[in-house]
Formats: sequence, C-alpha cells, structure tokens
Amino acid sequence: MSFNLKNRSFLKLLDFEKRDIVYILDLARDLKRAKYAGNEIQRLRGKNIALIFAKASTRTRCAFEVAAYDQGAHVTYLDPTGSHLGKKESVKDTARVLGRMYDAIEYRGDAQQIVEELAAYAGVPVFNGLTDKYHPTQMCADLMTMREYTPQPWHEFSYAYVGDARNNMGNSLMIAGCLMGMDVRIGAPKNLWPDSELVEMARKLEKQNKGKLTLTEDPSEAVKGVQFIHTDVWVSMGEPADVWEQRVKLLKPYQVNAELMAASGNPRVRFMHCLPAFHNLETDVGREIHEKFGIDAMEVTEEVFESPAGIQFEQAENRVHSIKALLVATLGSQ
Ligand code: CP
Ligand code: NVA
Repeated sequence: MSFNLKNRSFLKLLDFEKRDIVYILDLARDLKRAKYAGNEIQRLRGKNIALIFAKASTRTRCAFEVAAYDQGAHVTYLDPTGSHLGKKESVKDTARVLGRMYDAIEYRGDAQQIVEELAAYAGVPVFNGLTDKYHPTQMCADLMTMREYTPQPWHEFSYAYVGDARNNMGNSLMIAGCLMGMDVRIGAPKNLWPDSELVEMARKLEKQNKGKLTLTEDPSEAVKGVQFIHTDVWVSMGEPADVWEQRVKLLKPYQVNAELMAASGNPRVRFMHCLPAFHNLETDVGREIHEKFGIDAMEVTEEVFESPAGIQFEQAENRVHSIKALLVATLGSQ
C-alpha cells in the first residue's frame, strides 16, 4: 500500500508525481484482474462517498458508483438540482457539512476553484470528476488504456490530441503526457491551444520527466508517427450554443477521419475519446448541428469510431477500474 496517497484529494494531475500515477495505474490493473477473476477484496466497507454532479454524466457517475459498490462503500448521488450548493449554501459551508458525514466527496462542475475550495474545507479527500479546466480521473483511464495496448516504457509512448485544446481534455492530456515523460502532441488552431501559463507548467514537467511536447496548428504533423489519436467534443458542457458556428469552422480540419488516421503513417494507430462523441446523427445535438451546418459527424467520423482502431469503449470501462484504484489508494483499509 502506498502511504503517500492516503487521504489525498485528487483535484488535478499537477498535484502528483509520476510515481503516484504509476501506483494508481498498477493498482487499477490489479483490481481489474481481481474483478474479472471474481476474487476482489473489499477495502472500502463502511465508507460513505458523496457524489456531487453540477453537470450531467454517464461514465463518471456510474464508474464512481460501481467502483464504490464493488469495494463495499455506499454513495449518495446529488444531481445538478439536488442540493443547496451554490444557491442557498456556499461551497465552504457545504464542504464542512459533507465532510462531517462522508469519508470522501466527488465533485463535477464548472470552475476548478470550486473543487479546490471543497477540498480546502471538507477535511476529507475530494475527487475532481471534471471541471472546465481539468478531468483528472479521465486521465487515469486514458493512461491505463494506452498502457494495455503498449508494452513499451512510458517514455516510448506517443499520442496526439486534436481538436479543442483549451478545455479540460486538451489541458489534461497535455499535462498527463508531460508528467509521464511521453511524446505528446497537441494539434489545434492557435486560439484553441491551452493557455500559456499551463503550457509553461507542462514545459517544466516535460523537462523534468524527459518527455516531448509539441503544439502545432497542423493536424497531420500532430499525428505523424503516433500510437494513439485522442479527440473530444468541439463544444463542451456549459459553453453557450452560439459558439458552435465558429467551432465547426475552426475545427473541421481537425476531425478524426480515415485520412487523419492514415496521416499517422502507423497502420496500428488507435483512436481514443473520453465520450460522449458526436460521430453520427443519432443524438439530438448531432441532428441539430447537421441541420445548421450540414455535417454528419463532428470530431470523429462514424467510419473511424466504428472501426477496429477505436478503443473508446475499453477506455470507458477503465473509468471503473481506475476510479476504484483511486478510492482504494486514498481511502482503503490496508
Ligand atoms: N468521459 C466522461 O467524463 O463521461 P461522462 O460525462 O459521461 O461522465
Ligand atoms: N470536454 C467535455 C468532456 C466531457 C467528458 C466537456 O466538458 O463537456
């Protein structure tokens, strides 16, 4: 058992060292195997975890719930309208109330400041289930999934993230790659690059961990020679509807399609996406955007999404195993 993660919050990767993340990933692999083999040992019996979701979620909520139940813990789900938080009660007060009732709190919302404030006042570990700035639990699943497909050491991994890069996923994948010492490429129009302060922090990690960070406006250059191509939605939760037009225009050249996959020059390149994804017309938003802008798919085509290169559903499954590892590492009995 690692002692350095006991009672730690998980708010952003920048708070951790590579060895901490490696520890979580190793534990996640062990827990996945134990679940498959039917011999999982419950280390969270008697624990209670509050799950606050100020934004919608399928994977993160379900992964926290299943991980907690598998390990013998109980959860309370608070939906976007289900508590006083932010309306009648401050973050500080909510943190101090929940901290007296629960052993840990998960929070999904907009400002990173909120999850940081919860952690400062709760007195129990707080986990960031996504903010506008970061999505750290997703990073554990993404790294775990890439690890499963690559026998090489971390410094020999390479991946690209193409699309809206100044948001939670672009920011987090840039930091994750530099923290792990990987070859990470960000392919996006310059005005959608991560903000310069964060790039500076990533550069420090790149140096420390001997990684390689490339930021480019050229999507083909971004994906050249990589093992994995990641993307994310072009407009994130909480953004106003009127940004769609500009995003579609700006990000069309960064769509992950057969041509971009081929531009990697790697016949074994894999496609990854945190999901949900707009890859066809089977969603309300997908149809609305089709009507307005005449496109059948946004950040990824149906062809790539449904191809054998797509490992996005394994990535989704790994949310459970990696979140479980985080819970066990921070809250588990020895
Ligand atoms: N990837 C992810 O966080 O999915 P949800 O929004 O469904 O939780
Ligand atoms: N960038 C996306 C990620 C969803 C998991 C959003 O914030 O909506």
